[in-house]
Amino acid sequence: MSHNIVVLPGDGVGPEVAEAALTVLAAIAAAFDLSFEFDEHAFGGAAIDACGDPLPGQTLAACKAADAVFLGAVGGPKWDGGKQRPEAGLLGLRAGLNLFANLRPVDVHPALVDYSPLRPERVSDVDILIVRELTGGLYFGEKKRTNDTASDLCQYSKFEIIRVARVAFEAARGRKSHVTSIDKANVLETSRLWRETVTALQAKEFPDVALRHELVDSAAMKLITSPGSYDVVLTENLFGDILSDECSVLSGSIGLLGSASLGAGRQGLYEPIHGSAPDIAGQNIANPVGAIASAAMMLRHSLNAPEAAKAIEAAIYSALQSGARTRDLGGDLGCTQMAEDIARRIAR
Ligand code: IPM
Ligand code: MG
Repeated sequence: MSHNIVVLPGDGVGPEVAEAALTVLAAIAAAFDLSFEFDEHAFGGAAIDACGDPLPGQTLAACKAADAVFLGAVGGPKWDGGKQRPEAGLLGLRAGLNLFANLRPVDVHPALVDYSPLRPERVSDVDILIVRELTGGLYFGEKKRTNDTASDLCQYSKFEIIRVARVAFEAARGRKSHVTSIDKANVLETSRLWRETVTALQAKEFPDVALRHELVDSAAMKLITSPGSYDVVLTENLFGDILSDECSVLSGSIGLLGSASLGAGRQGLYEPIHGSAPDIAGQNIANPVGAIASAAMMLRHSLNAPEAAKAIEAAIYSALQSGARTRDLGGDLGCTQMAEDIARRIAR
């Protein structure tokens, strides 16, 4: 059976890192007797340039019909101030595919502890899975604007909180069985509903998983002072956006990390967590590891190929262990060379 994967190269370094991930997936197909059909579509700024819409109807229809969607990156200063923003395409895709749970794993490779801005002993035991709510909150609430006032509505329903919290608790069961739910319940009504709902769900369905609540301001601090004390972090859309960028630096380079955005079924959207990095686009110097790690998540969550996912993760580990480095990590491998190095290490 062939897996139908829609590829959205997007903007900046997006096309380069997406290509790198496809190189590794080709090695996976050969080693694991899997078959992938890649179907490329316009998205983001590139689609604004091509047809004036960051998420053309054809692209969304292809994504809806696919087993999985693989995205490079979107955005760039080129589209600042324009009528349409590339980022609107990404929000439209998340909403259009109903991808309410965003998984962002953060860990630190032992060979890279010195690249972290924190002292090695602070980061050596970091292994965090951020579960960010992705289709609600301020991002999607009603927006209003007059000449001199503006508002963004923050709204959450119990239904929206429960479905993403379940993803976090279930993930915790396969890890250290600990969820930290992050909110601002001392101020925000949505956060009070969030906390009550998560507490009730844990008592009813996940008594085996430990739950702790933290306020977002102090969590932002503790994620730096004691990042090793977190397992699964569950939070709402905007807090998750901010905290996941904060956590990403722990690993030594934002270029290393992948992500999965999931809905109720198996389908998902996979992308590195870094942006389009227009300043280094087209130079073959971007770090493809985040994109390749996202491909591993795609194999695990959407394509039911957990062994192939592990093979990619082991190949990344081994490449970094043996000193393969792109420029962001002080090395001189290009994006394609790094991908080829990892692809060569794929073994069953
Ligand atoms: C992310 C990005 C997006 C977000 C932008 C590009 C809309 O920052 O995926 O974290 O804010 O969700
Ligand atoms: Mg972000």
